[in-house]
Amino acid sequence: MAVFALGRSSQAQEGVLPFDPRHHLRGVAELVSEVFGDDLDAVGRETLREMQMVSRLGPFLGGMLSMGLLGEFVYGFVWVERGQVIGNVTLQRADFDGARWRISNVAVARAHRRRGIGRALLQAALDEIADRGGGWAVLQVRIENQAAYRLYRQLGFSDVCRDGAWRLPVLPPRLPQVNPNAGLRPLAAADWMPRLELAHASRSQLAHWAETINPASYEVGLGRLLGEALGRLTGLYRIERWGAWDGERLLAAVETIAGSLHEYHRLRFAVRPEARGGLENALVAKGLQALARAPAFPIIAEHSGDHAAGVAALEAAGFRAQRVLLTMRHNVESAAGAV
Ligand SMILES: CC(C)(COP(=O)(O)OP(=O)(O)OC[C@H]1O[C@@H](n2cnc3c(N)ncnc32)[C@H](O)[C@@H]1OP(=O)(O)O)[C@@H](O)C(=O)NCCC(=O)NCCS
Repeated sequence: MAVFALGRSSQAQEGVLPFDPRHHLRGVAELVSEVFGDDLDAVGRETLREMQMVSRLGPFLGGMLSMGLLGEFVYGFVWVERGQVIGNVTLQRADFDGARWRISNVAVARAHRRRGIGRALLQAALDEIADRGGGWAVLQVRIENQAAYRLYRQLGFSDVCRDGAWRLPVLPPRLPQVNPNAGLRPLAAADWMPRLELAHASRSQLAHWAETINPASYEVGLGRLLGEALGRLTGLYRIERWGAWDGERLLAAVETIAGSLHEYHRLRFAVRPEARGGLENALVAKGLQALARAPAFPIIAEHSGDHAAGVAALEAAGFRAQRVLLTMRHNVESAAGAV
């Protein structure tokens, strides 16, 4: 283990310590709640509830249970001062062979910030990943979080890609017009292979590194065809797809999923890099037209934050960024080798 307690030498259990669920679970739950409380998604809230529940069981039983229940929180480091957990970082293997590790829950209590605690915790995490033979440390940060971004850059993390969700609360009374020159035509469900190929072409190499595209989310086999037909018949959901072609090549496409199941509709689109700047407004406008016949729910568009013309088209149509996350990475092997 590459980490030692960095606190005052007279207080052996102070400073950076490996996360031990028997002693730190309650403190980490309180810290995560204080720092991220309002910002947690449903999974995060559920995990936090479990942590709080388990920490009430006492050090032994709670510690044992947490190993099974809270796999995500088992590795990590805390910063302890006067018996209080005031800093945390969590580590999780992100792939099968342990080459990639995900860093999350980086948090320092408000009253203790700017003292180097965040940097010390991150450094401990990077050393630990190197000790365990990991190659890359990967994390995500909201693009507006400059404090965390500067911390990560300082430690040698570099930008990988931006991905976000944009939200339109209601359709505008006057829908944007679709430029007929964009040449959008309906896409058949059977055109899933060109759409998959387009999805590949429209993401950068680094974005592919961060997350490989799952063909299953494009593939439309018989089961999916029947499902989509049934969805339309029952009115539960309706999928529409439109695309612009250059001969046999799909240049750009938009897909809308109008549903009454989730109380929001979805819109996603992609444009080949060489066709960027000319089709985005038409794709978003076409998507909004397709959704105009659906119940009046908000519309969520998940899109690459690196596609500037796509983001501009969403914002021109009234969408606002709900959450844009920057993925960052750090080559732990080369850093270790460089020492
Ligand atoms: C981000 C966070 C963990 C930083 O912890 P910290 O202990 O205050 O950070 P450190 O004192 O180790 O600072 C290290 C470097 O980070 C950067 N930094 C930290 N806070 C900053 C701030 N408020 N503004 C600008 N830069 C900041 C600086 O580059 C700093 O180096 P410097 O002090 O030499 O200029 C802390 O602000 C926090 O808990 N924020 C809320 C939770 C959060 O956003 N977590 C990250 C989620 S991805």
